[in-house]
Amino acid sequence: MSTSDFSYFLASRRSTRDFSNILVEKALIEELITDSLTAPSWSNTRPFKVCIATGDVRDRISHEFGARWAKLSQFRNGNLITKLRLLLSGAGLPTSHRLMARPYVAELKPRAERVGRELYTWIGVERGNRNARDKQWEKNYEFFGAPVELFIYIHKSLHIFAANDAGLMLQNLILSAHARGLGTCLQGAVIIWDDVIRKEFDVPKDYLLLTGLAIGYPKDSHINKFGAHRLSPEEIIIAPREKG
Ligand SMILES: Cc1cc2nc3c(=O)[nH]c(=O)nc-3n(C[C@H](O)[C@H](O)[C@H](O)COP(=O)(O)O)c2cc1C
Repeated sequence: MSTSDFSYFLASRRSTRDFSNILVEKALIEELITDSLTAPSWSNTRPFKVCIATGDVRDRISHEFGARWAKLSQFRNGNLITKLRLLLSGAGLPTSHRLMARPYVAELKPRAERVGRELYTWIGVERGNRNARDKQWEKNYEFFGAPVELFIYIHKSLHIFAANDAGLMLQNLILSAHARGLGTCLQGAVIIWDDVIRKEFDVPKDYLLLTGLAIGYPKDSHINKFGAHRLSPEEIIIAPREKG
């Protein structure tokens, strides 16, 4: 593969948000995991673990997430009484990563707002239509129809370095999936109810949930043709201080 082919291959990966129900063979998932483990890692520690949810396990987790999201969505859109009632019952409220809903800092906010605005415009959801936005967000909890959902955990002891290693591992996995015609979507949306995953998998207590990853065959649908804006190099490169 030439370097320009490689750059094209990298740029052609996009998040998939509508999967077909074609099953992904277990052997194929294992090949992706094998590829993921050729990424670099801090002292080769590989401070992460992966839960692979398929079949009934996947369906049970998705069902519970869906039920909790229904409550959380009510909370977000409800009046004061509804909010108080849900707050007291705790139904649907995050059980992990509670701070995830914090607003973005001013420097990063425009980027997050841009992708949100452009994605919702792309699929015809009006900016002020919270109901329609919530309906789209709800699809996160159906894993966008993907037959496989991974949950990635990192070892708490290595802090950001563990997250970095998991990111490197995930990018290998995502590109390996892309090379095989599979689509993927990372899902921060699923990390707010860690207890649901731990009910299905015996995750050691030293591990912290980092993200979900939906894997499957993409449908030929409009949403999958959305192209998120990409930054130019100057936007991230810090030039050296001028001397003298
Ligand atoms: C850690 C992480 C979490 C993400 N969580 C979600 C999510 O919950 N739902 C979603 O639709 N996309 C999610 N994304 C996908 C990003 O929105 C997407 O990568 C970004 O907009 C760039 O688009 P692209 O992947 O198509 O290049 C996540 C991405 C990352 C890296």
